[in-house]
Amino acid sequence: IKLKYISLAILVVQNASLILSIRYVRTLPGDRFFTTSAVVMAEVLKEFIVLQYNSIVIQYKDTLKLAVPALIYTLQNNLQYVAISNLPAATFQVTYQLKILTTALFSVLMLRKSLSRIQWLSLLLLFAGVAIVQLEQEGKQKETTVTGPSQNYAKGLVAVIVSCLSSGFAGVYFEKILKGSSASVWMRNIQLGIFGTLLGLLGMWWNDGLAIAEKGFLFGYTPMVWGVIFNQAFGGLLVAVVVKYADNILKGFATSFSIIVSTVVSVYLFGFHVDLLFTLGAGLISGVLQRWLSI
Ligand code: C5P
Repeated sequence: IKLKYISLAILVVQNASLILSIRYVRTLPGDRFFTTSAVVMAEVLKEFIVLQYNSIVIQYKDTLKLAVPALIYTLQNNLQYVAISNLPAATFQVTYQLKILTTALFSVLMLRKSLSRIQWLSLLLLFAGVAIVQLEQEGKQKETTVTGPSQNYAKGLVAVIVSCLSSGFAGVYFEKILKGSSASVWMRNIQLGIFGTLLGLLGMWWNDGLAIAEKGFLFGYTPMVWGVIFNQAFGGLLVAVVVKYADNILKGFATSFSIIVSTVVSVYLFGFHVDLLFTLGAGLISGVLQRWLSI
């Protein structure tokens, strides 16, 4: 009975607002949208909502499973900002690559993957390769005087270490859910995103609630900041696809390899010099990659 009146009341409001808003958008000056396209778009949206409702609300127990990685990823994404703001970029890159090892550990514990001693050794060498490449880069950069906000090294280090544990655990947990059922990777992402948004909002309110209420949600969003955000969103979806078709350990390989790529690009763009140490690190990384992929 309750639902009967609630639905009727919502219909009253919806109908009135629909007609008024159609009238409003049709009488505005400027470019006018095609009404035939609006009819099609409404149909598509309806299908989308029906589909989502079925998989998210009806199968809510399944949805709830994603709350765990969502919570951890939200924490991790916030911690990464703390880490990068407090550590030099190269130091962050190196320490964050420890996630290669945490990922392997959780893959063994949670997915029962077996790694031979040689494979563990390869992962250690991979980490060493990344560390050499990055530290060599850092050594070359001239000491710049810090003009920004003060940096706290210890705080940055703790943030990055917790991020590594979180990355390994959440990544493998997501992989387990993804590969343990027939639900599509897109559905899993939506389920993850729902919790991620809610938890992120909670963190935002807790940490910056007052300041955001005063200055606005989009305060300080320059085009560059938008770029960072788009990159992060795209990266997240990419991780999901990589984990579906490959796995988390290979994902770690790809990101290690990207460190060589970005260094080589810097050589061309910014005139960095490649020396013996870089060659050693890069050699280690590609050696491990080649061997692993041929196993
Ligand atoms: O460093 P790491 O590989 O753990 O980072 C993974 C990133 O991908 C996180 O920012 C996480 O929020 C995102 N992600 C996502 N959707 C997934 C899996 C990960 O957005 N299904």
